[in-house]
Amino acid sequence: MMATVITIDGPSGVGKGTLAQWLAEQAGFHFLDSGAIYRSLAYGVMRDKLALDDINAITALAKQLPVEFKAGAIIYAGVDITSIVRTEEVASVASQVAPIAAVRAALLARQQAFAQAPGLIADGRDMGTVVFPDADLKLFLTASAEIRAERRVKQLKKQGNDANINQIIQDIKARDQRDASRETAPLKPADDAITIDTSDLDINQVCQNALSLLHKKG
Ligand code: C5P
Repeated sequence: MMATVITIDGPSGVGKGTLAQWLAEQAGFHFLDSGAIYRSLAYGVMRDKLALDDINAITALAKQLPVEFKAGAIIYAGVDITSIVRTEEVASVASQVAPIAAVRAALLARQQAFAQAPGLIADGRDMGTVVFPDADLKLFLTASAEIRAERRVKQLKKQGNDANINQIIQDIKARDQRDASRETAPLKPADDAITIDTSDLDINQVCQNALSLLHKKG
């Protein structure tokens, strides 16, 4: 049986991950968090103290990345890195190694292998443009950096962490800028993507919108 593929792209903090996981549960599909692959690579780069301009070493690591996804956990060479990779520091390094074309090429087949029957919900930046250009449904989520930062602050406070909104806005903008301006697989909607602006929607409304688009396709 062929796998149905639904791609969800957009900038950081826009709610893609929550939507993608929820849709995957609703549809009984597999789920690809491609950002977790780039974050795992960043973790490896930091662990091995690779220089960010050492393209050969970073590409070699990407080709043999010792990461596994098991029941929601990210295991790197036997170590559970699920929480560590969520830090802004790791995200920042991820966005600095992600522009390397050879790195993206090395990670391509690994991401495509997630497309298994009955289907896949793939979350990232270039899912609809590069990794799954023939996807059955392509969604692109947007929201202003300020709104995404407010959501992040709420999330951090809920977890009992301090948060500086201005710093978070700055981090989000810097990462957006790197992701959208790179030459290889920049963050942008595919020509055939449906854009959902989530600025004035709560996550339930976003989920319901996406589910009805999925049913229309189905
Ligand atoms: O989605 P997430 O915030 O976990 O991604 C972390 C970083 O990994 C992004 O800012 C981006 O630089 C990179 N990334 C990418 N392509 C993807 C997913 C993530 O370049 N498909």
